[in-house]
Amino acid sequence: MMDWTDRHCRFFHRLLTRRALLYSEMITTGAVIHGDRARLLASDPAEQPVALQLGGCDPGALAQCAAIGEGFGFAEINLNVGCPSDRVQEGRFGACLMAEPALVGDCVGAMKAKVRVRVTVKCRIGIDAQDPEEALEALAGAVESAGVDALIVHARKAWLEGLSPRENRDVPPLDYGRVYRLKAAHPRLPVVLNGGIASVGQAPEHLRHLDGVMMGRAAYQEPWRLLAVDPQLFGVPVPFPDSNAAAVALIPYIERELARGVRLHAITRHVLGLFRGVPGARAFRRHLATEAVKASADAETFRDALVLINGGQAAPQTVAA
Ligand SMILES: Cc1cc2nc3c(=O)[nH]c(=O)nc-3n(C[C@H](O)[C@H](O)[C@H](O)COP(=O)(O)O)c2cc1C
Repeated sequence: MMDWTDRHCRFFHRLLTRRALLYSEMITTGAVIHGDRARLLASDPAEQPVALQLGGCDPGALAQCAAIGEGFGFAEINLNVGCPSDRVQEGRFGACLMAEPALVGDCVGAMKAKVRVRVTVKCRIGIDAQDPEEALEALAGAVESAGVDALIVHARKAWLEGLSPRENRDVPPLDYGRVYRLKAAHPRLPVVLNGGIASVGQAPEHLRHLDGVMMGRAAYQEPWRLLAVDPQLFGVPVPFPDSNAAAVALIPYIERELARGVRLHAITRHVLGLFRGVPGARAFRRHLATEAVKASADAETFRDALVLINGGQAAPQTVAA
């Protein structure tokens, strides 16, 4: 997610779940090819598995970027066919590619020919006046024929005419039934559901019909929920017993990154929702919001914020997400 799932966010989320696949922000092919590649694609090996999400519509450029992403250690290359922003529409990629399924198939085919890692697509169920039955079927058919490894479906339309990108995440109604029908019609195509999944506890019901679930805002805004992923969905032990232990485990990373010139706020802005609902959570957030932005902020600033949780006691956050 743009401006959210940068490398610091992913390192932090990886402390909360060893098993969930994490996603990068969308990075355009133009940025990968002409931009500061080392900065844009930087990640810590500990973050893996991470999917690199690309924005683009040129099969050759996407194949080149997929190979570059694979070289940087990403575990999956994902093509964005869901972003509704104007900037993306001008570039003829993102959600407007829902109207060009053959081109999306060519993009997938070109990337598959270039890399060994998984190549996936994230799409909507349709755009504007499209009929979701036809539009999603056309897209799924094209990418399945091209050998896509999974299709992640944000289960609502994007209305490119008249809605802002933010509104396009809430206003068009969710239609999980459409995604279930897609999977029933394409039993060999791995289909992952996205959109409106508010807790890890909601996943098992969807997993009766589908191959995976993707959590966006709930995972970012309330990252403590990720502690439930490994035990509840993968049947393996939770990496840390509670949010506080995970936060303490982040401190060596903070110290290392600060020594490299990173500002504390660049890391701790992703941690603000970790204690939501726990006594002291507001004081924790306020302390970081005011102190972590200062040039002098260091790991001690983060430790001071942690002391505000439960009056310094380890946070008793349950893993019942
Ligand atoms: C701040 C923000 C940035 C986003 N950036 C991207 C992005 O770069 N690529 C993408 O495929 N979706 C992006 N999305 C959409 C989410 O991935 C997801 O599809 C959407 O929020 C619905 O899922 P949710 O209800 O679980 O959040 C973004 C969403 C938010 C809130």
